[in-house]
Amino acid sequence: MEKSSSRKRESWGSRFGFIMAAAGSAVGLGNIWRFPYLTGENGGGAFIFIYLIFVIVIGLSIMLAEFTLGRRTKLAAAGAYKNMDKRWTFAGVLGVLSSFMIMGFYPVVGGWATAYIFKSFTGLLSNPAAIGDAFGAFISNPIEPVIWMVIYLATNILIVVKGVASGIEKAGKILMPVLLVLMILIGLRSVTLEGAGAGLKFMFMPDWSKVQGSTFLAALGQAFFSLSLGMGAMITYGSYLDKKENLPSSALTVTILDTSVAILAGIAIIPALFAFGMEPNQGPGLVFIVLPQLFAQLGGIGVIFSAIFFIALMIAALTSSVSLLEVVVAYLMDQKGMARKKAVSLAGGSMIITSLLSSLSMGVMSGFTVLGVGVFDFFDILTDKIFLAIGGMLICIFIGWFVKKEDIKNELTNGGATKFALFDVWYNIVKYIIPIAIAFVAVFGILSIPFKGLMLFGLAVIVVLAIFSKKL
Ligand code: PHE
Repeated sequence: MEKSSSRKRESWGSRFGFIMAAAGSAVGLGNIWRFPYLTGENGGGAFIFIYLIFVIVIGLSIMLAEFTLGRRTKLAAAGAYKNMDKRWTFAGVLGVLSSFMIMGFYPVVGGWATAYIFKSFTGLLSNPAAIGDAFGAFISNPIEPVIWMVIYLATNILIVVKGVASGIEKAGKILMPVLLVLMILIGLRSVTLEGAGAGLKFMFMPDWSKVQGSTFLAALGQAFFSLSLGMGAMITYGSYLDKKENLPSSALTVTILDTSVAILAGIAIIPALFAFGMEPNQGPGLVFIVLPQLFAQLGGIGVIFSAIFFIALMIAALTSSVSLLEVVVAYLMDQKGMARKKAVSLAGGSMIITSLLSSLSMGVMSGFTVLGVGVFDFFDILTDKIFLAIGGMLICIFIGWFVKKEDIKNELTNGGATKFALFDVWYNIVKYIIPIAIAFVAVFGILSIPFKGLMLFGLAVIVVLAIFSKKL
């Protein structure tokens, strides 16, 4: 056997495995925890409408762009750019930074979900009126949620240490279908509650008077967050893909799955919320408050439903956060030459610290702010409102203006073997429409929200990375 210093690149076991893993990355807390509460906060139907437009025009196109770039270079985020043009390394590194920062708050919510599996059995549902207060008390406690966060993050670390095909793929294959079935069942219960109609109306009859610049920015950020775009996760996954895979159809499948789960989660939660006479702008506690109330109404079997739901939520979160951790790990392995184990320990260990600070910012550290926001919000707002969208804009500019059209076409169509009739439409959307659209939304969005200092800070970070691109 020939001796070679470069490791053989791991790859997916099967096409189904890849779709499940990519959909597993996309479907997560973003769909079930975040989408419903953002819908509630941003006025319902109009937000959903704008969100869907962004998903179809921007999200789907960028997902295809990411798969293509990843597979073409066979390298993860940073390496993929670096390999093609050193001046662009920063765009990949920005993605690695985004992943790292999302992992500064995601495990906290993953920990909440894990805790609620057990709380389902220990009396959470026995006093429906106290469910809201119990949630507030739980997340602001300095110890309990931290323990759950560590358990959750440790599980991620174990999965990623085992490598690509065996760990991530297996988890996704089994658990994604379970989640879908469960969401449908809960949705059916929710819409048949008395008074649920007002919730459906809120979701599907847009009230345009509620739309502001910030609505567009929230919808754009959510589209990126939910589809795992703008930070290299899908570049990294694409890099493990086979040369025969049909990229457009894979991107379409993943987008449809992700969007269906978000809408299903909305249908499970929002009609129930209205049926219970609560206000839609509950914020991040929404899923942890409304669904347990719904389960409490089901009598004895509610406990089982609740436990299964939070298991599914935790699993959905896991298959997403594993991909975030994998982006950072792949960077350390490919660019810094670390062995997998060492890369995972370094990345995972740092994330325990950032997530610890985020968790504490819900309680004892709530007075500690950076540029006007607590630690949890710092990571959340910076990634969601700037880094992901700019990351998506950069990949479009890169592919549209810095790579030969022929090369892209070749990769995307497997050298002409796979037909993609919409290639030119897609190409022009990527080259012209998306960069302009994101620039508009970013400018008007940022002008319409508070935390301008934080936004400026985020932009400054990107500029600094760009200046030092060749050194990264
Ligand atoms: N898409 C995931 C979710 O909806 C979160 C995520 C974002 C994962 C970015 C990877 C990259 O929960």
